[in-house]
Formats: sequence, structure tokens, C-alpha cells
Amino acid sequence: MRLRPAVPDDVAAVARVDAEAFGADAWSATLLRDLVDADLARGELVLAVAADGGLLGYAVLSAVGEDAELQRIAVLPAARRRGVAGALLAAGRDRVRRAGATRLLLEVRADNAAALALYAGEGFAEIGRRPRYYRDGTTAVILEHPIDVTMEA
Ligand SMILES: CC(C)(COP(=O)(O)OP(=O)(O)OC[C@H]1O[C@@H](n2cnc3c(N)ncnc32)[C@H](O)[C@@H]1OP(=O)(O)O)[C@@H](O)C(=O)NCCC(=O)NCCS
Repeated sequence: MRLRPAVPDDVAAVARVDAEAFGADAWSATLLRDLVDADLARGELVLAVAADGGLLGYAVLSAVGEDAELQRIAVLPAARRRGVAGALLAAGRDRVRRAGATRLLLEVRADNAAALALYAGEGFAEIGRRPRYYRDGTTAVILEHPIDVTMEA
């Protein structure tokens, strides 16, 4: 299993995982290509986990100033519960810390039990809720993870 920044050749596979995970709310390949072409210096980062069989999962983060945001994370259904998302989060936190962030924020659907369990286990804490945030009326839970800036860069 290899964890690395996504490259342009990953875009089609990232788009497939995104479509599988988010259905009608999936991001277009064009948007994903733009994100992969950017890098953390411009505020965005796409991390990918690949194995010999292909891409297993990815995460999209942005870091502008002290607040970084986890915009997206998804793992192929067949590769779940093997620590892929945990590894992506750890690498993402490391990269945004190097970019100067002091906390990592995210929004998650209140009905997404798998993601809420993942984030709780990773040490995220709830800092707020946005009722009816999603198109179908579901509440968004806002979570925060402090970034330890005292660690060696
Ligand atoms: C949420 C998601 C990214 C988790 O990916 P994953 O690679 O399976 O997560 P990990 O294997 O790193 O899980 C780490 C821990 O999170 C928790 N967890 C993950 N999935 C869980 C589930 N379905 N039910 C309960 N706990 C879960 C567990 O504590 C797990 O540790 P364990 O397997 O030792 O019990 C994946 O389910 C997914 O892609 N979902 C669809 C997209 C999505 O909802 N993304 C998040 C919102 S943007």
C-alpha cells in the first residue's frame, strides 16, 4: 500500500471512487483534475493510497493560513476497515501542519456513522452543527482536530 500525493494519472480512478462514495454529489473529473494540478502551496492537496490493484482511496485537503480543511475522504468499499482512511488522515495532518495550519476542520453529515466513528477515533471533537446544511435537509456536524505545531517539521 503506497500513500502519496495524487498525480494527474490518478484523476480517473479518484473520480470513480468519488462517484462510488458520493453518488449524485460526486465531483467532476474536471474539478478533481484542477485539484490535483494545484498543490499545498496554492492551498490544496490531494493524497492517494494505491495498491497493485489500483487506487484504494483518496483525501482532499486545503490549507489557507491557520485553518486547514478536510474537504473529502473516501475509500473503495472493498478496501474499507483496513486503516486506509486513518493513514490518509495522519498524512494529511502532517502535510497541513508543514503548511502552517494549527487546526484541521471538517463537516460531516450527522447520519454518516462510519465517518463519525472514524473521526472520533482520530481525535476530532465537535465544535458546532449546521441544521439543514445538506440538500436533503441533513444536519452538518463541524469537527476540529488541533494540529501539534511543536512537532519537528
Ligand atoms: C468513512 C470512510 C472514509 C472510512 O474509511 P476506512 O478506510 O474504512 O476507515 P479505516 O479503516 O481507517 O477506519 C478507522 C476506524 O474508523 C472507524 N470506522 C470506520 N468505518 C466504520 C464503520 N463503517 N462503522 C463503524 N466504525 C467505523 C473504526 O473505529 C475504524 O477502526 P477499526 O476498523 O479498527 O474498528 C469510508 O467508510 C468511506 O469512504 N465512506 C464513504 C465516503 C464518506 O462518507 N466520506 C466521509 C465524509 S466526506
